[in-house]
Formats: sequence, C-alpha cells, structure tokens
Amino acid sequence: MMLKVLVIVLGFCLKSLTGVHPLTPKELYVKEGEMVVLQCPHFTECNHTGDAKMIWTNYTNQEMALTNMSSVEQMSVLVHERSLVIFSASVNHQGNYSCSLRNSSSQSWFRLTVYTTQTREIRKRSSYSQICYAQEACTMQCPGENIPIPDITFNSIVWHKEGESLPKKSVYFSVVEQKDHGVYICTRSYLHHGQLYNTSYIMELHVRPKDNEKTAVITSPRDGDVFNVDLGSTVVIDCKAVMYSEFDGVFWLSETVFVETNNSLPVYYNSTQEENGDGIKTTVSLVFRKVSEDDLSKNYTCKLESNSQNPIFVNISLAQNARPSYISLAVSVVCFVLVMTVTVIIYVKFKIPVTLFLRDTVGCHRSTSDGKRYDAFLMYYESDTDAGLNDHDRKSLESILEEVYGYNLCLFDRNVIPGEAVAEAVLDCIEQSRTVVLVPSFPDASPGSGLLNAIHAALVERQTCLVFIKTDTTEVSTSGSLPEVLQVLTEVRHCVTWKGTSSMTPSSTFFKQLRYYLRAPEHATKKSLLPQTIQDVTSE
Ligand SMILES: *[C@@H]1O[C@H](CO)[C@@H](O)[C@H](O)[C@H]1NC(C)=O
Ligand SMILES: *[C@@H]1O[C@H](CO)[C@@H](O)[C@H](O)[C@H]1NC(C)=O
Ligand SMILES: *[C@@H]1O[C@H](CO)[C@@H](O)[C@H](O)[C@H]1NC(C)=O
Ligand SMILES: *[C@@H]1O[C@H](CO)[C@@H](O)[C@H](O)[C@H]1NC(C)=O
Ligand SMILES: *[C@@H]1O[C@H](CO)[C@@H](O)[C@H](O)[C@H]1NC(C)=O
Ligand SMILES: *[C@@H]1O[C@H](CO)[C@@H](O)[C@H](O)[C@H]1NC(C)=O
Ligand SMILES: *[C@@H]1O[C@H](CO)[C@@H](O)[C@H](O)[C@H]1NC(C)=O
Ligand SMILES: *[C@@H]1O[C@H](CO)[C@@H](O)[C@H](O)[C@H]1NC(C)=O
Ligand SMILES: *[C@@H]1O[C@H](CO)[C@@H](O)[C@H](O)[C@H]1NC(C)=O
Ligand SMILES: *[C@@H]1O[C@H](CO)[C@@H](O)[C@H](O)[C@H]1NC(C)=O
Repeated sequence: MMLKVLVIVLGFCLKSLTGVHPLTPKELYVKEGEMVVLQCPHFTECNHTGDAKMIWTNYTNQEMALTNMSSVEQMSVLVHERSLVIFSASVNHQGNYSCSLRNSSSQSWFRLTVYTTQTREIRKRSSYSQICYAQEACTMQCPGENIPIPDITFNSIVWHKEGESLPKKSVYFSVVEQKDHGVYICTRSYLHHGQLYNTSYIMELHVRPKDNEKTAVITSPRDGDVFNVDLGSTVVIDCKAVMYSEFDGVFWLSETVFVETNNSLPVYYNSTQEENGDGIKTTVSLVFRKVSEDDLSKNYTCKLESNSQNPIFVNISLAQNARPSYISLAVSVVCFVLVMTVTVIIYVKFKIPVTLFLRDTVGCHRSTSDGKRYDAFLMYYESDTDAGLNDHDRKSLESILEEVYGYNLCLFDRNVIPGEAVAEAVLDCIEQSRTVVLVPSFPDASPGSGLLNAIHAALVERQTCLVFIKTDTTEVSTSGSLPEVLQVLTEVRHCVTWKGTSSMTPSSTFFKQLRYYLRAPEHATKKSLLPQTIQDVTSE
C-alpha cells in the first residue's frame, strides 16, 4: 500500500519534471572568480526532495555525476537540495549541467559561461535592464535572491556605474535624467564559513523621455531590402539613422553576431556622425571587402539601440547579380540571322508579285507627273529566229498592255506619222516615253535595223529606261547573231523572256515581269484591272 502511494507520487513527479524546460538550457554568465548558483526548478507537486534524490551532471569535458557531493562539501562546489553552488568560477567550470530526479529520463539544463572581460556579446546576453522615465524618481533593483542554503548568508550589495570608480550602497535618483542612463553593476556578496563570495549582475538603465519626444529612426535601407552584388566585388551598404541622444547607437549584426569595426577583416563597418539642430545623423557603412558566397547566404541587420525607445531592426540580404545568359544571346543572334535570311529570300523570290500586288490593291502609283505623254514605247527589232512575236502576238501584247493594264503606249506604226523622218520620229517617241521596250519580231516589223545603231547613242545618253524582251532562243552571249548594239543593251538593261503562246495571258510570268519593270501606268483606270476584264481579253 505504502509502495503504491510512493509510485503514484513518483509518477506525478516524473510527469511534472517532463514539463520543465526539457531542452532549452538556462543560460548563466559568471565572471571568473565569482560565485554562481544553479537552481534546479521547483517541482511543486513533488514534496519529496528529501527522498527523491536530485542528480546533477557535469557535461564540461567528460560527464561526471555530482550527486555524491550532496552533503560532501568540496573546496569550490556545493550541492544542496536543488542548488548547485560554485563559489569561485573558473574556465574549467564552463559547460553544460543538468539536474534531474533519480531514475527520471527528463532533465533540466543549464549552460554556464565563465568570462574574464565583459564583451558586448556577453553584456547583450546577460544584462538586465531597467527603464526609468526622465524627471521622475528611480531606484535601481539588483537582481538575484537569497540563496536557500543555511550556511550561506547574504552580506551586502554594492553598486558600480561603468566608467565611475566610486561604489555606491544603492542607486536612487529622486529625479533621473538622460545622463544617468548607462551600465551599472551590482555585486551581491555572501558569507560562507567566514569567507565573502561575490555575484555580479550587469544592469542597464534606460532613461526614457517623459513625453513623446522625437523618436530615432533608421531612414535607409528598408527592412527586407535585397542588394544585388557581384561575387568578389567590394560592397558598401549604408545604414542611415537620425537620433536624438548621443547615447543611442547604430551598428550592424551579421545574423545575431556583431560585425566588428576592424577594417582588416573581410566584413566590417565604419561610421560617421553629423550633428545639427535636427538630430544626429549617423551613417554606418557595412563594408564587404570581397563579397563571398558565404556572405550571400546571410542576413544582415542594422540595429538602432536607444535608451528612450525600443530598438529598431532593419534586415537586409545580398543577392548575386544575374549573369547574362550567353545561350539566349546566341539564340537571339541565330534567330535574327534566320529572319534576315528568310526576309531576303522572300524579297528576292517574291518581289515582283509583292510589288504588283501592292501597286494593284494599295495603289502605290507614281504620284508626280514627269510630263511625258507615254508610259512606254514598244520598239520592234528583227528577231533572228521565228521565236519572235508575229503579228498576232504583237497585237495581243499591245492590247493587253493598253486595255487590261491601262498603259499608254507609243507605237511606231500608229503614232509615228508617215512621211516624217523615221529617225526623228523614233527619237521623238523615245523622248515622250518613260520606258523603251525592245520587242523581237518575226517577221521583221522593225523600222530598220540601222535605226538601232542610230538611236543607241541617244538611249545611252538620255539614260532612258529600257526593257529588253528576248526570246527563249536568244542566246545573247554565245550566238553572236544579235546586232552588236543589242548585245550591249541586253547586258545593261532589264531582260524579260518571251516564251511564245504561254506568255500570251495577262497573268503570265512574262507580263508580271514586264509590268514590274514598266512600273505603274500614269493614268491607270481601275476598271481595266478587274479580273473580269482580264478574262474577257484572254478568252478573246
Ligand atoms: C512541501 O512540504 C513543505 C513542508 O515539508 C511545505 O511547507 C510545503 O508547502 C510543501 N509544498 C507543497 C507544494 O506541497
Ligand atoms: C557516494 O559516496 C559514498 C561515500 O560518501 C560512497 O560510498 C558511494 O560509493 C558514492 N557513490 C557514488 C555513485 O560515487
Ligand atoms: C566539471 O568537470 C570538470 C572536469 O571534467 C571540472 O574541472 C569542473 O570542476 C567540474 N565542474 C563542477 C561544477 O564540478
Ligand atoms: C552544451 O550544450 C550545447 C547544446 O545545448 C552544445 O552545443 C554544446 O556543445 C554543449 N557543450 C558542452 C561542453 O558539452
Ligand atoms: C531507480 O534506479 C535504481 C538504481 O539507480 C534502480 O534500482 C531502480 O529500479 C530504479 N527505479 C525506477 C522506477 O526506474
Ligand atoms: C567582492 O566584492 C567586494 C565589493 O565589490 C570586493 O571588495 C571584494 O574584493 C570582492 N571579493 C571577491 C572575492 O571578488
Ligand atoms: C530581422 O532578423 C532577425 C533575426 O536576424 C529577426 O529576429 C527579426 O524578426 C527580423 N526582423 C524583421 C522585421 O524581419
Ligand atoms: C584587426 O584584425 C586583424 C586580423 O584579424 C588583427 O591582426 C588585428 O590585430 C585587428 N586589429 C584590431 C585593432 O583589433
Ligand atoms: C567606410 O569605409 C568605406 C571603405 O573604405 C568607405 O567607402 C565609406 O565611405 C566609409 N563610410 C563611412 C561612413 O565612413
Ligand atoms: C533571411 O531572411 C529571410 C526573410 O527574413 C528568410 O526567409 C531567410 O531564411 C533568412 N536567411 C537566413 C540565412 O537566415
């Protein structure tokens, strides 16, 4: 029966222990040579501290059970009930400690740090802070409590203000002022077997303005800003703040660690201050001498610490500049070249239909008149073979050009008045026409082969626009059967090949080419371009 009760009580104890800070250790900081007390949490439901043994374990270098010292007092360490007292802390004591009830799997953890000099990091983590309001009374309270061990008795408290030499029994301000803020150290001393042992606490006194005075701000950067940087480059990030108290401070943190001001380090910060009536403008520059991959993976925080307000944090991070993609650049170039090539090919292959289409539908006509009477002068020359245009072909050619496409033609046998000097008349016709079309005829319908020689000089001299129609069999360069003057002309002018009856329809390649070189007729009539009309003519 008794055992059953004990088991139930024990179970209760274990349960309650499980709930006590299972893993997050309590952090303790002690100055070397001073006393520190590790107090195991009170297990309220469990009033059997005498029976259920407390086990302290030392995880400094090697695990070491301290249980057995419960009543045994050593030179520097004392274990009493829930308390572990280290009278004079040394670096050897630094480490992890745990306390637990015997047989319990759950423990309570402590992490003890023994310091010799008070660094900013230590102060940040271990200091207590007290806030007082300007122009009001303020009494500073030393933390700590009496130690529940019979032969350790509280002796006294002594205060020091950092930077001042004189100790004080207490810190009391009937009217506290801004200048009173700062770091204070209170030292409690305890008496044990005639010896005094000290425990110090770092206290920060913040004096806040009574009324809402101007508040310090960080003006740039903004929280969450990301700075694009190049690996290996030097990067300077300015944190700008406006403050109203010389005791406010701005500095950079890398993750949670303070960045140093030592400019021989890869990452450091420097600062400038400028005071005017409008507050203290502070610029704190975070300098990366050479940005590394490691720097990119960290967050940096600009922190403004003030006595009169809550600290301000601005977080920033670095990101690598996007590298130009050479692949996409190459693809663009290839695409561009392809598009250009296709465009050129399309132009070369389809320039005639496209030009004609535009001319016919959009109406890209020559707008300015050059004062000439005719669009073209059809001049026949004697073809050397029977492939030349016969009478019927010539009539068709003339009627299609005039009636279907609306060209105004000068024709030798129509517009040259008989009796006129032939050469004169022909020259006149050339003069009055925009283009001269040389048409092979068989049988011969030319005004005379000598004439070509006569007008050749005139054609060249006047830069007359000339279209040379040749037959399929006109092997200009080899046959040598063409008059010499014609050979010269074929080389320098536009050539269109006559392919017999297949060239006789208005929609044939022959007419397309011819019209292309003739350009648009001056007085084209829309009617003449209707397909129906074209059909009429072709069926004729
Ligand atoms: C534990 O027992 C002591 C006396 O032995 C008593 O003063 C205390 O109140 C008890 N605590 C609880 C939580 O029961
Ligand atoms: C604890 O100390 C006693 C003597 O004080 C000793 O007999 C016992 O073996 C010790 N136990 C352990 C676990 O060290
Ligand atoms: C913990 O163990 C180390 C050596 O392992 C020793 O120097 C130190 O004094 C021990 N701490 C306590 C509180 O007994
Ligand atoms: C103390 O515990 C922390 C984790 O809480 C661990 O990182 C550290 O290495 C431990 N130190 C020692 C000396 O065991
Ligand atoms: C407690 O530990 C002792 C030895 O240290 C062991 O004999 C006992 O069985 C344990 N009890 C429980 C409940 O684990
Ligand atoms: C404890 O503190 C008092 C007052 O600050 C000082 O005089 C004394 O030397 C200290 N003792 C030790 C052991 O540090
Ligand atoms: C800035 O980062 C710290 C940790 O580095 C974090 O605690 C804090 O919440 C962040 N602040 C903002 C505004 O994101
Ligand atoms: C700055 O850092 C360098 C390299 O870490 C070190 O040698 C130098 O002593 C440091 N200077 C100061 C003033 O801390
Ligand atoms: C800090 O140092 C860097 C590099 O020398 C410089 O560019 C920057 O202007 C300095 N910033 C301040 C606030 O002095
Ligand atoms: C930096 O901060 C951002 C957002 O505050 C967060 O998502 C990211 O995980 C942080 N990076 C690191 C390395 O802490």
